[in-house]
Amino acid sequence: MILTGLNAILNVEDARRAARRRLPRGLFEYVDRGAEDEISIGGNRRDLDAVKLAPSVLVDVSQRTQEAEVLGRQQPSPLVIAPTAVAGLVWRDGEIALARAAAAAGIPFCVSTQSITSIERIADESGAELWFQLYVWKNRERTLALLDRAWAAGARTLVLTVDTAVGPNREYNLRNGFGIPLKPSLRAGIDLALHPRWTCDVLLRSLIASGVPTYAHYPDEFRTQLGRVSLSDEMSLATDVTWEDVVLLRKRWQGKLVLKGVLRVDDARKAAEYGADAIVVSNHGARNLDCAPGPVEVLPAIVDAVSDRLAILADSGVRRGADIARFLALGASGVLIGRATLYGVATAGEAGASRVLDLLRNELSITMGMLGARTLADLPGCLAPSNRR
Ligand SMILES: Cc1cc2nc3c(=O)[nH]c(=O)nc-3n(C[C@H](O)[C@H](O)[C@H](O)COP(=O)(O)O)c2cc1C
Repeated sequence: MILTGLNAILNVEDARRAARRRLPRGLFEYVDRGAEDEISIGGNRRDLDAVKLAPSVLVDVSQRTQEAEVLGRQQPSPLVIAPTAVAGLVWRDGEIALARAAAAAGIPFCVSTQSITSIERIADESGAELWFQLYVWKNRERTLALLDRAWAAGARTLVLTVDTAVGPNREYNLRNGFGIPLKPSLRAGIDLALHPRWTCDVLLRSLIASGVPTYAHYPDEFRTQLGRVSLSDEMSLATDVTWEDVVLLRKRWQGKLVLKGVLRVDDARKAAEYGADAIVVSNHGARNLDCAPGPVEVLPAIVDAVSDRLAILADSGVRRGADIARFLALGASGVLIGRATLYGVATAGEAGASRVLDLLRNELSITMGMLGARTLADLPGCLAPSNRR
């Protein structure tokens, strides 16, 4: 039997390969790669692989469920689609495609500050449960105005990303000439010519419909066409974000507040003290600090210290349903998916993202069945003795 189209995508790695074929190299590497020497990308993989789950045998697993409570909301699986800047460049209206796939799977979609599509359009056209991810701009007034906008569009969960204190060092972006604003270059031109499907389906169609794609959440007077001058200094990301900003946000935001990118027990404790409802234990998919520990390494101690005070979510490196099971076994109550669904949406839009979610859910179901886990609550009991503390 010859598998074609989406049927040929049998796992996340297949989706990754398909995305690599479709996207210009500069964009694919922006999505796929890490920071500096990419030590922590490999570290995340090795750490997850080292978590062994031991099956409990002769358990009736005919009725398994992945039902989960994530930040007080019952959902059919413990997943959330992570915020990913410029998802709208990998597919035309890629954020809407991701949000629709999330809605179909009954899970939240987290809109990035640096989204190409506005949260208002994503809300109107997807019907998804929306979270909003915040990068604090130097201009705090504008930042707060952005929050009001996210609230008005229906977001009730605010995710403050705390692991991007400064801009990360990713040399391949410089080599590829990939940056925002996009800059024309001979190399970029050749890259586009070699990837005509993306150039026609995404770039040219966007140009015809709405001009050069832009960051949708930047105020009109600052909004920069990605092909033009750089963003105003006022709207660049602040490098002086502190716990005082958490105080400010906690006062201003009536919904759930999540700090994303916590890797230390003392910071997790502070997050609880400052009134966060949850943290995401994450190293940003190994895209920021190349000497950072992976979430697997730090999760158990963080769970021990604060799981009675706030919800603990995790991400970075999920490529199989078994990786989701591993994070849950280590004490996370929900798992964010970044690149996996981006590869899917880059390959076939909403259908591609849904395909990846279905594959991950199916793999999780098989893993649970094999482990004798009927519910997600059974997973921590499956940690192999070598992984217990
Ligand atoms: C292309 C790309 C863009 C991202 N943009 C953001 C962002 O704007 N804000 C943020 O908090 N995290 C961002 N992230 C990190 C993800 O939210 C998430 O933490 C990470 O992708 C998880 O690792 P995984 O890709 O291995 O699943 C981005 C990740 C990728 C791959």
